[in-house]
Amino acid sequence: MSLDLPESAVPPPAGSDESSSAPTRRTFIATSTAVGGAVVAGGVIAGTFLADPEEASAAGAAPSSRVSLTVNGTRRTVTVDNRTSLLDLLREHLELTGSKKGCNAGACGACTVLVDGHRVNSCLTLAVRLEGAEVTTVEGLAKGDRLHPLQQAFIDEDAFQCGYCTPGQIMSGVGCIQEGHTGSAEEIREWMSGNICRCGCYVKIVRAVEQTADRK
Ligand code: FES
Ligand code: FES
Repeated sequence: MSLDLPESAVPPPAGSDESSSAPTRRTFIATSTAVGGAVVAGGVIAGTFLADPEEASAAGAAPSSRVSLTVNGTRRTVTVDNRTSLLDLLREHLELTGSKKGCNAGACGACTVLVDGHRVNSCLTLAVRLEGAEVTTVEGLAKGDRLHPLQQAFIDEDAFQCGYCTPGQIMSGVGCIQEGHTGSAEEIREWMSGNICRCGCYVKIVRAVEQTADRK
């Protein structure tokens, strides 16, 4: 079978500038990898094949990688387009739709989850960077039928209206409490300021976080 390699997928001749040991975009690592009949060339990051987006797209294939991570205590291994955000991995690949897509640009906090115990905007986090990571989403907070204390406090304090921001607020609140930034209502407001509530439930959200922190 003859393969029409794109010019950029052909290794440079020995002795040419491009054959030096310095890695370049055109470095040919994968000799020829057929993906859906197309040939892609790429590099290796953390043991995972990572195709060059431009070359792969020129060859008509979306560059993809396999990533293994733990989500809410369960090990998951998925193959995703390299451009996939953690939010899309959760919602589109793992069917965990609790984390919400608001702005998809890091401005609203609706997508907040914990990665290795730290709050992150999952819409801005590349899934392929999370090999071996521990991810906790709002679906992972309750223990069976028993809600996490902050989930219960949101109900007790009536800290939501439409509820769209609520999963992100709760995950951010859990992080805020773990970090110890709950010394006052002002401190909670400051450390939760990345989470926007269009319904304006801020007073009750802060109260729910305070109440949960006090019970710790
Ligand atoms: Fe991620 Fe808005 S959806 S910050
Ligand atoms: Fe509606 Fe916060 S409860 S956006």
